[in-house]
Amino acid sequence: MSGEMDVIQDAEERGRTDLWPFWRRAYAAGDPLPRIACAVSRETYRFDEGDPLPAEYRELLTKMLRHEGERAGNKSFLGFMGTCLDLAEALYPTREARVIKAEYLAEELKHAIMFHRLAVGLDRDFALRDVPYAHYTFHLPRETWADDAYFHFLVDLNGAFHARDWRESSYVPLAKMAATVERDELGHSEMGYHFLREICADGRGRTLCQRLLGKWYPAALDMFGRSDSKNAPLFIGWGLKSVDNAEIRRLYQGYVDAKLIALGLEPPDPLKSRRFL
Ligand SMILES: [Fe+2]
Repeated sequence: MSGEMDVIQDAEERGRTDLWPFWRRAYAAGDPLPRIACAVSRETYRFDEGDPLPAEYRELLTKMLRHEGERAGNKSFLGFMGTCLDLAEALYPTREARVIKAEYLAEELKHAIMFHRLAVGLDRDFALRDVPYAHYTFHLPRETWADDAYFHFLVDLNGAFHARDWRESSYVPLAKMAATVERDELGHSEMGYHFLREICADGRGRTLCQRLLGKWYPAALDMFGRSDSKNAPLFIGWGLKSVDNAEIRRLYQGYVDAKLIALGLEPPDPLKSRRFL
């Protein structure tokens, strides 16, 4: 077994360049993400793979994992990965940028192995279920390199924030992989941010990025769901989440706004063009 792990690790290490993986620089400067901590007192639960799960807990865990599409058994995920390469071919300006995008894909496929393993351990039928990407953010037109850069900066960041929250998860297999997923997803977000910085290097690029914020910013905030979600207290009570949708969205928005301002961009009104408040 360890030989195989070494090969994957070796492949990752040989893939390192000055830029890739982007998470190295982000974590070298300290903890880049805000602390997500539960503010309410609650029972402590701990369930490992194969443990009998209370019905409500299993339902909530499966519901939460449905949103994490990157599973080897999810046809829609593999299809989505394919479109990523099409976009890179059509929109990316240099071979170097396309190679970076391919590194990103390789890492998402690594996640697909990890989430597949988790899904099989939970429910074999679920592991094979095709779950199309339902949230409208995944269907926003990506017509420019800047669109794709925003997708990674904002949507992979959503993954990093969720993975940060799983560090304390009552489901042991998820808690075990949380730090790796968080780190990788933050790296993907930083990849998008790196591209945005290149695009914003001139006035025309910055104008384009400011305009596209009107499309991507509200969608990114909407990905955290409704603030009055009736499931949030249940997720928190069972130790599957630490905070509710409004709180994780607030932390996320604070992080994103600071990053946008650092590029000379103005964060839009957070209530404008929203579908899920
Ligand atoms: Fe990602």
